[in-house]
Amino acid sequence: MTPAKMIPEKIISAKMTSTKIKGLILSGGSGTRLRPLTYSSAKQLVPVANTPVLFYGIKAMAAAGITDLGIIISPQTGDEIRQAVGGGSSFGASVTWIVQDEPAGLAHCVQIAQDFLDADPFVMYLGDNILEQPLAGFVQSFADSLSVSTTPAARILLAKVPDPSMFGVAELDTTGSVVSLVEKPTNPASDLALVGVYMFTDAIHAAIAQITPSPRGELEITDAISTLITSGKPVDSEILDGWWIDTGKKDSLLEANRLVLDHLISDPNSDMSDIRPEISPKIGNATDVEITASTIQTPSVIGDNVLIANSHIGPYTAIGPNCQIINSTISNSVILEGAQLTDVNGLTDSLIGRHSTIKGSPATTAAHLTLGDHCELELT
Ligand code: TTP
Repeated sequence: MTPAKMIPEKIISAKMTSTKIKGLILSGGSGTRLRPLTYSSAKQLVPVANTPVLFYGIKAMAAAGITDLGIIISPQTGDEIRQAVGGGSSFGASVTWIVQDEPAGLAHCVQIAQDFLDADPFVMYLGDNILEQPLAGFVQSFADSLSVSTTPAARILLAKVPDPSMFGVAELDTTGSVVSLVEKPTNPASDLALVGVYMFTDAIHAAIAQITPSPRGELEITDAISTLITSGKPVDSEILDGWWIDTGKKDSLLEANRLVLDHLISDPNSDMSDIRPEISPKIGNATDVEITASTIQTPSVIGDNVLIANSHIGPYTAIGPNCQIINSTISNSVILEGAQLTDVNGLTDSLIGRHSTIKGSPATTAAHLTLGDHCELELT
């Protein structure tokens, strides 16, 4: 995979915060919920609208003026992530790589990043999350809050969700201060879920030093934030307007693909749009694309060096680079680099790994597939 394209203008014009705030992006973990793809590659490199998930977070940080980034990687997938991101200059950022030997939890990531973070305030971003709303406003108001006497020790971002018992849930007082945080509560105190972005002062390090691993064996960031609260340190919150999605499972990845494609169609000048502008009908921006006797239904995205013949693609479909799609119909799916599909009718809600080959038959009328990299499948 080549490093990200240059995205210069917006970064240069991004409002710089007055206080130096660092970024910590978490891109290790085990990715068990996105198997089989994560047996062979990092979940943060799975593409959404043909762009690795991780790039959305890096781009969001850089656009908010946070250019000094630490990225947590695992020994298993760290090299491919480093190669994909490069030194960070294509994002207007500089990257310090921090290897986490075991996926020992989000708070463990902060612990091992202490040399990089020093005593600076920082924004922590889960590398498999995508937020519609730019971070700049949140980062600026956090930076502003650092120079007043009532500086919060931490600020969390929250989103209203219909099913709070699936998430970490915050209980707030009338001023927006966080009273409690509970992971996956049976009786949620609110419908406000923790999203994958947190803002911390250096007070978090002492809180992490006080916690012990949870029953699942991880140092939990929610425990560290709860420690701040119980020791009387102020933790406040902001509530997101736009959507937020954790792409760590197949269905949520497909949903992210739909949301990003819709977002790019409705707001072509957004921060996200200059990541991959070749969304259909502007597929002419991709190079070496050959489309014969086929229809591409918007919103969809086609990568470079793709051959599509006698097929219908879309809506909500991302075809990665170097794919060949022949005599097939595909909707609401993400097809990764180098996949080859022939005679596959009615492929929908599917995630197809790199260089996988699927051969269908005229009898195939519907298929919902999740395939890893380098699979071979024959449908009869
Ligand atoms: P999770 O999705 O919570 O954890 P995971 O990657 O282990 O996934 P799964 O539950 O499917 O096995 O992690 C959120 C983000 O944080 C993701 O980008 C991975 C990263 N992470 C680390 O870098 N180190 C860690 O110790 C953990 C738990 C997560």
